[in-house]
Amino acid sequence: MKHLWFPFDFAGVKLLMAAVVAFPALLVTNAIAADVTFPEGYKQGEHYASIVRGETREELFTTPEAIAAARRGDPLPDGTVITMEDYRQNKLYRYVVMEKRKGWGQAHPAELRTGDWEFQWFSPDRTVKSGESLDRCRACHTSQSGNDYVFSFDRMKEAN
Ligand code: HEC
Repeated sequence: MKHLWFPFDFAGVKLLMAAVVAFPALLVTNAIAADVTFPEGYKQGEHYASIVRGETREELFTTPEAIAAARRGDPLPDGTVITMEDYRQNKLYRYVVMEKRKGWGQAHPAELRTGDWEFQWFSPDRTVKSGESLDRCRACHTSQSGNDYVFSFDRMKEAN
């Protein structure tokens, strides 16, 4: 009888190993599924800055919780969404959005990792602009690692 136990145990060990391997794989799959959808209610948040540069005008919005954290000098809270309306010659050209959720960002290599933030570009009709390389967003925003990857962190601090 004894020799019959061996294959049984072996299968059991393999099953256990498969479970151990599969569990982190599930976590990684969740991280890759990070997906910024259009923040329909963004205007109910705070309008914390207007930036005008030549023919470009940007209007920046975020949550009151994010403004409060920036004032304290803390990293912005989990769930923060920042929406920037981008106008050219007073005509809405696009929205750029960044959103922070625990575990997001893990799919990116270190040099393109902006913490837990993900980025998206939306056309004026609020649909995702297809074919856009979001690596470019990340590459530029990594320079702001000292400000939770947000260029306008000081503007948030100073917002009334
Ligand atoms: C070459 C650098 C660069 C690239 C590329 C870039 N950004 Fe930014 N982004 C900035 C700067 C600088 C600001 C601050 C506003 C300003 O000065 O115009 C900013 C501001 C923002 C903000 C407002 C919060 C903040 O950081 O101040 C969002 C949201 C944002 N960018 C999203 C995006 C998205 C989405 C993309 C890619 C589609 C992107 N950015 C690509 C430089 C960049």
